[in-house]
Amino acid sequence: MYRSRITGLGYYVPENVVTNDDLKQWMDTTDEWIQERTGIKERRWIDPKTSEDTTSIMGAKAAKIAIERAGLTKDDIEFIVFATLSPDMYFPGGGVRVQDLLEMPTIGALDVRNQCSGFVYAISVADQFVRTGMYKNVLVIGSENHSGGLERSTRGRHVTVIFGDGAGAAVVSRSDDDNRGILSSHLHSEGKHAAELSLLGPSTGRWVDAIMEENDPEDVSYYPHMNGQFVFKHAVIRFSEAIIEGLEKNGLQKEDIDMLIPHQANLRISQFIQRKFRLSDDKVYNNIMRYGNTTAASIPIALTEAWENGKIKEGDHIILAAFGSGFTWGSVVIRW
Ligand code: UT7
Repeated sequence: MYRSRITGLGYYVPENVVTNDDLKQWMDTTDEWIQERTGIKERRWIDPKTSEDTTSIMGAKAAKIAIERAGLTKDDIEFIVFATLSPDMYFPGGGVRVQDLLEMPTIGALDVRNQCSGFVYAISVADQFVRTGMYKNVLVIGSENHSGGLERSTRGRHVTVIFGDGAGAAVVSRSDDDNRGILSSHLHSEGKHAAELSLLGPSTGRWVDAIMEENDPEDVSYYPHMNGQFVFKHAVIRFSEAIIEGLEKNGLQKEDIDMLIPHQANLRISQFIQRKFRLSDDKVYNNIMRYGNTTAASIPIALTEAWENGKIKEGDHIILAAFGSGFTWGSVVIRW
């Protein structure tokens, strides 16, 4: 068995900044409510009038940076793992689009559909391929275009104000040092709560024809639905469990955590976890204030920023942790 490590990171967010006050043009909300409940000050939303960005295009832009920083070229990448809940098309997924956009050889491309846990799942997949020796360099992307599919009205405000667009990417490569790299990943699901954070249709459970036939102005089935408080309660428990599981597996204590990169679901969730594990401010990285919740993109964007800002050093213990729709949750423990 080999060990894998992250050798390159990159992110891309659309130019268009939407502040909390900007949202008032569509819905009854306030900057105060949004900041108090979520910590979010602004997010990026693709402006289709001025930008051609899509989930795949943003993913490709982030990937390009990550590949370059890994000291590789697109031709060195042997496999793509693409995590998103908002692919450009119902099918095929975003991975094949990136293979085309970056003009890569005809390598395999796999899509991961695990929403907010998507990047954690995707990294674990890449890690397995590298560990077994099947591939040396795997490109992992998390990218989301939420803005086009959110309900921009007071009815949808409890969901719409939270989500933002963006992409992050990592190159997972065979490590030449057995002491450094991805130590373990821990993945979980509890499908009985699937409906609590979901988008019902269009899907094979709710075909377009049925939606159009009903033509019901009250129908919100094609907007994301979230039972916020229910999700919140589960999130704080599962985040903690995933982190503890990662620590125990590697014989680490909470004091050994050098940097926790939590999925940016809500600043209040991150702060709860920070307090629970008694981590100082410099040991948890949050950027939800500037980007909102970018689902599968949130961890790679935050990880890239933390690395760019010099907050991650060789030998540091980094924990990635996520919880979201499914429910799915998990963690990845890395010795950088
Ligand atoms: O990333 C995947 C995982 N996701 C999460 O972990 C999210 C977890 N949940 C949350 O972060 C929070 O539940 C939310 C931020 C989504 C919502 O916060 P909340 O404290 O649970 O608010 P609520 O939905 O219970 O709504 C409280 C009040 C309601 O008014 P009434 O009924 O008390 O009069 C809402 O109508 O706040 C109202 N409200 C708003 N007011 C202004 C809901 N959304 C808004 C809004 N602006 N955007």
